[in-house]
Amino acid sequence: MSPIRGYVFDAYGTLFDVHSVVEAGREITSDPVTLSATWRQKQLEYTWLRALMGTYADFWEVTEAALRYAIRQLGLAATDAQIRRLMDAYLSLACFPDVKPALGRLAGRPRAVLSNGAPTMLAAAVTASGLTTFLEHVISVDRVKTYKPSPRVYALGPETLGASAGELLFVSSNGWDVAGAKAFGYQVAWCNRSGAPEEELGVRADLIVDALDRLPR
Ligand code: LAC
Repeated sequence: MSPIRGYVFDAYGTLFDVHSVVEAGREITSDPVTLSATWRQKQLEYTWLRALMGTYADFWEVTEAALRYAIRQLGLAATDAQIRRLMDAYLSLACFPDVKPALGRLAGRPRAVLSNGAPTMLAAAVTASGLTTFLEHVISVDRVKTYKPSPRVYALGPETLGASAGELLFVSSNGWDVAGAKAFGYQVAWCNRSGAPEEELGVRADLIVDALDRLPR
């Protein structure tokens, strides 16, 4: 790997545990793990579809639409108040235990988040998990009104950090996001938290770690 001038992190699944919503899900199902997985998968599908269709709606709206779909797909029912509580859980997702030590170790070079999340969602999650002082930049796709893996999104990293993509290390736990960032030109580390197989998309991460505190300085 070549010298690294800054770090760009994915948010959901990489810093924040999207499956923290499982607790809130217990209110409407005895299988909140399946609800959470279905919700997340549908949320991602909607971002890809909206990016392709050119019909951007922000991540809060997409996340609620995906939740409503997941509830119907699983044959569940929820009141508006229960939907609100599940959505609110998204604003205070837990960060993974390796996040603070890892970001602390990388201090000295700019540390950024580049995420699909709407600005208010990201601000809430960063504050709730006490990451404010560990990050120099929190960048939302909302600036370009489309979603990963659009190159227009990945371009926000180099633009904001004032370095080329090849001088930055992009870090994501999402295999498809790793592929998108690599295709754009970043150096990429895949934090493979779930032991997932590599994507078959013709690009590979420069580095694979199982936790963020294994990232090189
Ligand atoms: C994000 C999605 C990919 O944070 O999890 O951008």
